[in-house]
Amino acid sequence: MSLHLVATCALGLEAVVSRELTNLGISDARAENGQVHFQGGPEELCRANMWLRAADRVWLRLGEFPAATFEELFQGTKALPWAEVLPREARFPVDAHVHASLLTSLPAVQRTVKKAVVECLQQRYQTAWLEETGPTFPIRAFLVRDRCALMLDTSGSGLHRRGYHTMNAPAPLRETLAAALVLLSYWRADRPLVDPFCGSGTIPIEAAMIALRRAPGLQRAFAAESWPLVGRKAWQEARREADEAFDRETTLQILGSDVDPEVLALARIHLRQSGLEGRGIHFQRQDIADFHEDREYGVLVTNPPYGERMLERRQAEDLYATLGRVVADLPTWSVYVLSSHPDFARHFRRSISRRRKLYNGMIPCTLHQVLGPPPPREKMGVDGNHENR
Ligand SMILES: C[S@@+](CC[C@H](N)C(=O)[O-])C[C@H]1O[C@@H](n2cnc3c(N)ncnc32)[C@H](O)[C@@H]1O
Repeated sequence: MSLHLVATCALGLEAVVSRELTNLGISDARAENGQVHFQGGPEELCRANMWLRAADRVWLRLGEFPAATFEELFQGTKALPWAEVLPREARFPVDAHVHASLLTSLPAVQRTVKKAVVECLQQRYQTAWLEETGPTFPIRAFLVRDRCALMLDTSGSGLHRRGYHTMNAPAPLRETLAAALVLLSYWRADRPLVDPFCGSGTIPIEAAMIALRRAPGLQRAFAAESWPLVGRKAWQEARREADEAFDRETTLQILGSDVDPEVLALARIHLRQSGLEGRGIHFQRQDIADFHEDREYGVLVTNPPYGERMLERRQAEDLYATLGRVVADLPTWSVYVLSSHPDFARHFRRSISRRRKLYNGMIPCTLHQVLGPPPPREKMGVDGNHENR
């Protein structure tokens, strides 16, 4: 069975998600505007949900067609093979996203799609009444430039919901973006990792999950777990594989610090809930001005205040200047700082090796990268991969 699957993600993270899919053995990933398309059977569907760290959701795409009128939308929807996926008792709430199209009314688009799916299933199951008492198949119509793609949400709640992050600090970073920052840093478990503005601990915990090969989906449920098309076996196999992959031995060198004791209390709760306590992840209270680090060849990944959501702009700029002075004392470290501030570099005053545009929710941001030298072991070509820095 070959399914057309789509992993959606924040704009700018398509390459990260494609790389994650490649690492899962999925070779045909094709990225476009916040979506990564790939083919696969139930096994790939389950593994993508279980393992993707930077994607928002995994969708099963049923088809796409022109939809400049309600009649086209209705007929195009009805013609798709709904009964191959939805059993007779399926529940199927419909949601819609409309952009640059002649049809603009979301409720009208949702109603039309719903009615067309109902008619399709009624004809196929030879019934005038659909109970909608069974498993849920969330349908989403993506109507863009008068073409409609219809997708089923296989994930249910967003993939950022790993299960450990239950308490919200101000301006938390989504788990998916935190994981993406760590993946973009090419940090590896044998080097120290530090986040000096750690808030509720998302970057340190996501880093630990990556290093310990802890599948982000191991502690949660997915919509498609009750879908007959996917079947129990594929989910059981994905969970077994994830459980086996988890490294229960290695101790890491991860430090999260923050000036606010209240957010650190949340970080510690999240660490406990992640099941990674005692694995070398530490949180401590520390003002960035007092930050000191003797270790070498570490990686600093952080998301300081931007000045638009938490502090006044001026205070944020002072923090960037202080962070710049901290980084000047870390010549062997690689540094990754996400900020939306347009003049970050001017206040930070370190030479930026690379910049990457990313979105933190709706906020356009830049990931500023200061690449340090590779650790001596890598310099000698032990693993031959100089990108690991
Ligand atoms: C954008 S939030 C980080 C959110 C975090 N990534 C999370 O997932 O919860 C910025 C953090 O910087 C901290 N902060 C502000 N001023 C600081 C300072 N002078 N030294 C250290 N941390 C500071 C705040 O307490 C806040 O938790």
